[in-house]
Amino acid sequence: MPSPGGRGSGMPDVLVAGGCGFIGSHLVRRLLQRSDLARLVVVDNLWTGREGNLSDIADERLEIRVSDAETFSDSSKFDEILHLASPASPAWYMADPIRTIRANVLGGLNLLQLLKPGGRFCFTSTSEVYGDPLVSPQPEHYRGSVDCTGPRSSYDEGKRCVESMLFESRRVSGTNIRVARLFNVFGPYTRADDGRAISNFLNQALTTGVLTVYGDGLQTRSWGYVDDIVDALERYFWLDAIDYPGPLNIGNDREVSVLEVAEYICSIVPGCRIEFAAPVPQDPTNRRPDLSLARSVLPGWIARTGYEEGVTLTLEWFQTQRGQSLQDPLLKRPGTAALVGQDARAT
Ligand SMILES: NC(=O)c1ccc[n+]([C@@H]2O[C@H](COP(=O)([O-])OP(=O)(O)OC[C@H]3O[C@@H](n4cnc5c(N)ncnc54)[C@H](O)[C@@H]3O)[C@@H](O)[C@H]2O)c1
Repeated sequence: MPSPGGRGSGMPDVLVAGGCGFIGSHLVRRLLQRSDLARLVVVDNLWTGREGNLSDIADERLEIRVSDAETFSDSSKFDEILHLASPASPAWYMADPIRTIRANVLGGLNLLQLLKPGGRFCFTSTSEVYGDPLVSPQPEHYRGSVDCTGPRSSYDEGKRCVESMLFESRRVSGTNIRVARLFNVFGPYTRADDGRAISNFLNQALTTGVLTVYGDGLQTRSWGYVDDIVDALERYFWLDAIDYPGPLNIGNDREVSVLEVAEYICSIVPGCRIEFAAPVPQDPTNRRPDLSLARSVLPGWIARTGYEEGVTLTLEWFQTQRGQSLQDPLLKRPGTAALVGQDARAT
C-alpha cells in the first residue's frame, strides 16, 4: 500500500461523498488505514448505498452523515474530497435520471465549495464519457461518441459536466484535481439488485439457477475486480508525488465475453444453466480501456485479478448476503428494462 503524502501541514480532514456504496465502502476502509488522517466524513443519501456496508467499522475518525451531496454543509472545510456520489448501474440511474444529474453536477458544485484552499478534489468519472466508442481500446484523448439526448445521457453527460467543471476550476483557480475514469468494476459489496451482468448472474445462480444471456453473449466487456481498482484509486487519489490531474483510465483491459462469464459461473455453481434472450438494443459489442497512461502514472499498479478469481470471491460474498431484500429500480420507471439488459454498458 502506498504511503500517503499528506497536505503539507497537519492531519487532513477527508470527505467521501457516496462512501456507503460499493466502491465507496472499499475506499473508506483503505482510507482508515492511513495513520495521517484526522477525520473521515462520509456523506451519503443511501439511494443505492447502505449504512450497513460500513457498520463493522469501529474507528472514531469515521462520521457517517446521511445527506444529499448537493446540500451537505459542515462547519469546517476539507483537505481532500472524493466525489463518488452517483449510482453506477444503468438500471438505477435510468430509473431516476434527474436525480442522477443532481448527484453528479450539483453534488460536485456544492462539494467544491467545501474544499480548503490548496486541497485536493478527486472524482470518479466513467468510461461512459466515451459513449458508444468508435475506437477500441479507448485512450483518454478519445473524445467519445455520446448521445446527449439518449436514455443514458443523465449519467454520461452528468459525468462529462463534472469533468468540465473540475478542469475549468483548475484552469481558472488552480484547483488541485484528480479525475479517474473507471471502467466496469465488480466485487463484494455490490448490491444483488445492482442490475449488471455479474451481479445478475450470481443472483440468478443462487436463486433460480437460470442465467439469462442477452443476444448471443459474444459481446465483450472488461471487468475490473474491486481490489485492483481501489489499489489504483488509492495511489492516484492520495499520493502527492503524482502530478497528473487526469483524466486517467482505470480498469482491467482483459476482454471477456458475457457468455464466457456465464459459463464460468455455471461451472462453479452446480445445477445452473444458461438461457438466451433477445438482444438488448444498442448493447455495445465491446468496451476496453487503454491503460498505457495508468501504467506510467501509477508505477507498479496492475490489475492482477482475473475474472475467474474475482467472480469466485464475489460469489462467496453473495452467499453471505442471501435474503437481502431486492428492489427493482426499473419498476419505478416501466419501459427502461428493455434498454438496460443484463449489464448494458460497462459504466
Ligand atoms: N461500479 C462501476 O463499475 C463504476 C464504473 C465507473 C464509474 N463508477 C463511479 O464510481 C462511483 C461509485 O460507484 P459505485 O459502483 O460504488 O456505485 P454505488 O451506487 O454503489 O455507490 C454510489 C453511492 O452514492 C450514494 N449517492 C447517490 N446519490 C447521492 C447523492 N445525491 N448524495 C449523496 N450520496 C449519493 C449512493 O447512496 C451510494 O452509496 C460513482 O460515481 C460511479 O459513477 C463506478
